[in-house]
Amino acid sequence: MITDDLELTKIFLDNEYIIGLPTETVYGLAGNIHSEKAIKSIFELKKRPLFNPLIVHVKNKNAISTVAQNIPDIAYQLAEAFWPGPMTLILPKKSGVNELITAGKPTVAVRVPNHEKALQLLEILEYPLAAPSANPFGSISPTSAEHVHQYFGKSLPLILEGGQCTKGIESTIIGFEKDQPIVYRLGTLSLDEIESFLGVKLKQSTHSAESPEAPGMLSKHYSPRTPLMLTDSLEATIEKWPNKKIGVLTFGPQTFALHCHSHLILSENENLEEAASRLYAALHQLDGLDLDLIIAEKFPEYELGQTINDRLMRASK
Ligand code: TXA
Ligand code: MG
Repeated sequence: MITDDLELTKIFLDNEYIIGLPTETVYGLAGNIHSEKAIKSIFELKKRPLFNPLIVHVKNKNAISTVAQNIPDIAYQLAEAFWPGPMTLILPKKSGVNELITAGKPTVAVRVPNHEKALQLLEILEYPLAAPSANPFGSISPTSAEHVHQYFGKSLPLILEGGQCTKGIESTIIGFEKDQPIVYRLGTLSLDEIESFLGVKLKQSTHSAESPEAPGMLSKHYSPRTPLMLTDSLEATIEKWPNKKIGVLTFGPQTFALHCHSHLILSENENLEEAASRLYAALHQLDGLDLDLIIAEKFPEYELGQTINDRLMRASK
């Protein structure tokens, strides 16, 4: 069922069921952080390995102290600047937080989503919500209630309707080493924005895909079922596959002489925010066309272009 009834959603959550949760980035698969049953259902439904921890969604920045401790000042400053919003902070966890949520790590991931429905829900609940993105492990994240329904059907009895996600790509994840912020995952909040707030360049986490600090950094992730190639020379790549049914994904209104089955343009005016917000919906759409191959054009390597390239690269592995 897709519903916009907050009271009904609360009844499901109070009874330890999990639900589809709209946020400004992507839809989540959410459960009460204090219910082991709900947390287990999240991992089972998503087929997510237990080593991959979940993000805790709280109603405001004061609520982080219910799950985290020894919070660096810089974390509060970032929270003040960017919450509610598409930034997740990795903080030292409080001992009461369920080990399944944090995958046994000493840290917990938290964020305040910038979505009216999600905030209204968090306001009427007596607990925060643990929620990963609402997609089977490794596949494209959902940016509408319909995408979530297509993935899970009746196995997920309730999805809270929150419209199309306005941002469309997951949150940016920031951790701390000796109180210095470090980027764990590129996301909707561009590094340029965070760096101009902090006045320093951010370091990126160097953890390899084999022992990922944030499995959103696994080299293969965010993938459609159709093979995807990422290229900076569109025509030459299309030319290589004359007998294939090809879908092309471009930033702006590219023209090319060669034939392809379908062509999706992410932003007519080459606006990076708009392109990011439509990326996953476009991949879902192309994936439904029974193509042999998706060829995606590389984005400019700045601001959200960097995040979009990161996702396309992982989708192409
Ligand atoms: O925008 C988002 O972040 C969405 C919405 C629903 O909030 N959520 C999301 O969750 O993308 P998920 O589970 O798909 O990705 C969360 C990432 C994973 O890569 C996980 O490994 C990382 O956060 N993570 C969670 N807790 C962590 C921790 N304690 N240390 C390092 N990474 C952590
Ligand atoms: Mg995910």
